[in-house]
Amino acid sequence: MIPELSQSSVRMKEPERVEQVLSSMRSAGAGTLQVISDFDMTLTRFSYNGKRCPTSHNIMDNSKLISEECKAELKNLLDTYYPIEIDSRRSVEEKLPLMVEWWTKAHELLVQQKISKDSLAVIVRESEAMLRDGYQQFFDHLHQMSVPLLIFSAGVGDVLEEVIRQAGVFHPNVKVFSNYMDFDESGVLQAFKGELIHIYNKREGALLNAEHFKELQSRCNVLLLGDSLGDLNMSDGVMDLENILKIGYLNDKVDERRESYLNSYDIVLEKDETMDVPNAILLYITGQ
Ligand code: TMP
Ligand code: MG
Repeated sequence: MIPELSQSSVRMKEPERVEQVLSSMRSAGAGTLQVISDFDMTLTRFSYNGKRCPTSHNIMDNSKLISEECKAELKNLLDTYYPIEIDSRRSVEEKLPLMVEWWTKAHELLVQQKISKDSLAVIVRESEAMLRDGYQQFFDHLHQMSVPLLIFSAGVGDVLEEVIRQAGVFHPNVKVFSNYMDFDESGVLQAFKGELIHIYNKREGALLNAEHFKELQSRCNVLLLGDSLGDLNMSDGVMDLENILKIGYLNDKVDERRESYLNSYDIVLEKDETMDVPNAILLYITGQ
């Protein structure tokens, strides 16, 4: 049906169900589809030539805007909390307060750094951020077919928007829900706006944005892309959902986490740095 689904990086617990959902979505057509995606490590690469790629937070952490002392503290936070984020032996209940702690501490440190709004474009340009191979086709195809792309990110909205803007793919069908910076009158970062979004409250974010989903009411078919189990809740605000197909990138600790990913995502992509599978699925669903 879709040759890309036979690649060795692709795993499915119930391939027949995937086939059924894909057929229903194809029959319903592009006019009924919306795509809901995470950003960091889902639309961006996890690694390149064996080296980890930055998240939207890391783009700032690694930049010249941050003092050496602050860099060391942020690195310390990453080394402490990232292993917890991906630890399959801990429950979400156990991890949740620790993730809030990570985000809160990281944002407090960033706010102390007097980051100017004007410097964001430069730090993104100088960063090693990389969208996954095939991103251009992904964004352009959704735009051409007028399919909305909603990005739910626990990263930094201002930074990730700049990444997609500089890649030339921030088309009008893209809508981002994320943590946005609040700048003072002189354009210096003074806080983060609104409720904190971390990896385990994307559901609340989705429900708070239910008004926005209302506009998408006729779009009852959802293609969801994520890399963390917290990303599975991004579609919770969608009303009158008919079909959902969940694609999960399993980037790290693959053997340990395979089972839990296979139990929650319809299609699991193991150590796959490309958008090939989502692109092939989109071409199929939109009848091309
Ligand atoms: P998301 O991809 O689910 O939106 O989550 C954002 C990622 O950002 C998550 O994997 C953890 C990571 N992160 C950092 O790299 N540095 C930080 O300071 C924080 C708070 C999160
Ligand atoms: Mg992610």
